Amino acid sequence: MSKIILTGDRPTGRLHVGHYVGSLRRRVELQNSGEFDKIFIMIADAQALTDNADNPEKIRQNVIEVALDYLSVGLDPAKSNLFIQSQISELTELTFFYMNLVTVSRLQRNPTVKAEIQMRNFEASIPVGFFTYPISQASDITAFKATTVPVGEDQLPMLEQTKEIVRKFNSVYGETLVEPEILLPDNEACLRLPGTDGKAKMSKSLGNCIYLSDTEEDVRAKVMSMYTDPDHIKITDPGKLEGNTVFTYLDAFSKPEHFAEFLLEYNNLDELKEHYQRGGLGDVKVKKFLNNVLQDELAPIRARRAEFEKDIPEVYNILKKGSDVAREAAAETLAEVKRAMKINYFEDRALIEEQSKKYSR
Ligand code: TRP
Repeated sequence: MSKIILTGDRPTGRLHVGHYVGSLRRRVELQNSGEFDKIFIMIADAQALTDNADNPEKIRQNVIEVALDYLSVGLDPAKSNLFIQSQISELTELTFFYMNLVTVSRLQRNPTVKAEIQMRNFEASIPVGFFTYPISQASDITAFKATTVPVGEDQLPMLEQTKEIVRKFNSVYGETLVEPEILLPDNEACLRLPGTDGKAKMSKSLGNCIYLSDTEEDVRAKVMSMYTDPDHIKITDPGKLEGNTVFTYLDAFSKPEHFAEFLLEYNNLDELKEHYQRGGLGDVKVKKFLNNVLQDELAPIRARRAEFEKDIPEVYNILKKGSDVAREAAAETLAEVKRAMKINYFEDRALIEEQSKKYSR
């Protein structure tokens, strides 16, 4: 069986380092591993509109931001199809058919949707489109016969929902759809990178994000004001690692080579942590190290972005070409789905003959 990747992001803002360690970095590795037959990376503008119906301009502006972020981290249009969800109308057709296989109470139990409803204060006024987006996400994944979906942990319930739809569809209509596997980051810090203020989630409204497109100076300022251990007041005080954002970021970003390059007194992160816990190591020194580590990772991303920013029409062209390829793949699956559901009337000669016979005397 072919190995196929499908994944994507909602274009509601620029992508940040949480997206990077949670999924983007992995996608680039997978892309370059050569292990996959096809890779589809989707800008989920239609999904973004399910809770931004009154603000299409925001989505429109952020499509290009996300595309630039994708290209800047090293997603390569020669290897990965970058496309825009709304341009593939086949996806909405699939969604309409899958809706018959899912109950309202099942959607109500989806923990991610539940949390999002609370966060947006939707309560009694949940848009139907938003409520059903897990079904549309199942269409995104199955349309491309994806076997592997590299995403953050918050997407687990969507993958569960997708698998259920696949099983239900195949059992009712015959083996047609492919069951996908989620691919999560393997390191705890990457699974849930906190905001710079130590809050559980990075979010634009909290102003606690480090964006991939931030300038060198922005990154430095954000790192130097990061949340650490509030009880670590004097340098000689012992410091705590739990909930210490700077160390969580080091868990997510630092490599042994960084010590040789920026902090020769320590051989590795364990030694640095040990000294911090013992006391005698100040926050500023650790923050300066983290800043070096982050700049090292982000500088090539920033430089690549600057190159792509010089030719925006070409970026749209990449998305258009990717969308054409994606449309073809989705159309193939949709045809198979319609065949399985026996709603392929005009290509079904047996049906026409059967009906003719019925009416011939
Ligand atoms: N829900 C994802 C997000 O919040 C975006 C998305 C839409 C997606 N469809 C998908 C991710 C299919 C993976 C697979 O960013």
